[in-house]
Amino acid sequence: MKEKKHVLIVDDEAPMRLNIAELMTGEGYNYSEAAGGDEAILMVQKIIPDLVLLDINLPQKDGLTVLGEIQKLFPKLPVIVFTAYGTSERAIEAIKLGAFDYIEKPFELDEFLLTIKRALEYSELLNEIKLLRDQVQDISSTVTSDQIIGRSPQMQEIFKLIGKVALSDTTVLIQGGSGTGKELIADAIQRHSLRRDKPYIKVNCGALSESILESEIFGHEKGSFTGATSQRMGRFELADGGTIFLDEINNMPLSLQVKLLRILQKQPFYRVGGETPIKVDVRIITASNRIVEDDVKAGKLREDLFYRLNVVRINLPPLVDRKQDIPYLVDYFLKKHSNGRSLTVSPEMLERLSKYEWPGNIRELENTIQRAAVISQSDVLTIDHLPVKHSVPSSGQTYSGSDLQSWFEEIQNADKSLKDVVCFVEKELILQALKQTNSNRSRAATLLKIHRRLLYTKMKEYGISTD
Ligand SMILES: Nc1ncnc2c1ncn2[C@@H]1O[C@H](COP(=O)(O)OP(=O)(O)OP(=O)(O)O)[C@@H](O)[C@H]1O
Ligand SMILES: [Mg+2]
Repeated sequence: MKEKKHVLIVDDEAPMRLNIAELMTGEGYNYSEAAGGDEAILMVQKIIPDLVLLDINLPQKDGLTVLGEIQKLFPKLPVIVFTAYGTSERAIEAIKLGAFDYIEKPFELDEFLLTIKRALEYSELLNEIKLLRDQVQDISSTVTSDQIIGRSPQMQEIFKLIGKVALSDTTVLIQGGSGTGKELIADAIQRHSLRRDKPYIKVNCGALSESILESEIFGHEKGSFTGATSQRMGRFELADGGTIFLDEINNMPLSLQVKLLRILQKQPFYRVGGETPIKVDVRIITASNRIVEDDVKAGKLREDLFYRLNVVRINLPPLVDRKQDIPYLVDYFLKKHSNGRSLTVSPEMLERLSKYEWPGNIRELENTIQRAAVISQSDVLTIDHLPVKHSVPSSGQTYSGSDLQSWFEEIQNADKSLKDVVCFVEKELILQALKQTNSNRSRAATLLKIHRRLLYTKMKEYGISTD
């Protein structure tokens, strides 16, 4: 027997959804509903429907944006958009963006059902093509995915570790300073795992307030709090069968840590305001840019949870500790941001890049190359295309008026603020104090006339090793 087709209905008006849902059932289709754009995007990844019916007038996220995101995820998934009568501009935009068709509200029943039928036939055709393609192997995904560059022994060890853990379902905790590539590593583990074709859901635990984070992760029932106008699946449910990446796990509130622990203990959990126990099979990868053991000691991360998350640990070293990777990374980023040009860097520029401390790690290096590529007229990037901080004299020297001038210019012309420059100087002075005192923190703090604890906090903030 042929499988029932699955239609995802995206509309913020519940009566409208209900109406369409009834029509779909009548036609023998399965359906799911989403009340907003973000939910729609998660649902699309979770269920991979055969067709999406998308209202273009969504309250929070604009329907065209949602359409674009769906297309990015599944370029071939047919999407039919609803537009209000007489809003042809939006309809045209939608078609330009790749919508299968558009229907004006209020719609003609016959025309509506016919359009749906056509779209589903189209998607069936594509499925057949996909089956054939799958047999030819999934080569393209390995070619298009972001590469991880690293010839240093530390990175080589990490590659081996990824190879070893990818195929198991163990939890992995990735720790590293900002911009060291934590997310890239998490992606690589997922891509090489047996769950690679299953949902992969990412949550940044630092980006949301406690209550929102809870309902994002674990879902909520209708009416469980003001604003919870409909039932909502959490990210764990959406990730069922696949992988979840909990970024900035150190920012997860303690109350939610208990719930997370239950999932790790293979216990059921409940949506916010819910009474139905839910069980999921999800592989968990987490990341933190702080020293996790410190958070455990400080009582910010439950110890029992830490042990379960830390089954395999990947520590990403800061870029200063793997400087031999810099030329390879530079090469890679030159290609990545070439826009068809064949870019190189001058020897002097490469030397500067190799000498710099890179507090923002690989992300900062990438931004630097990208910026230089944009501002350089020629294909050879030189030190003239570097931000001023790379030419600042090393610490201990007196800062001259011209440095002040150049910093001032940088604030005006580049994407720097007063704070960036002040932070830079602060970091340089701390490094200098540490150098002079042979890394004796108490003495360095005395030299700088600040409290030792403040020094420690600042060192962590600037990614200066506190070992
Ligand atoms: N080894 C690498 N090879 C190539 N590109 C890399 C490497 N590591 C990081 N990058 C690139 O640097 C940027 C930052 O990486 P990523 O977002 O994974 O870092 P992160 O540790 O998660 O940063 P943050 O702490 O700011 O969240 C990305 O554009 C990523 O593609
Ligand atoms: Mg990150």
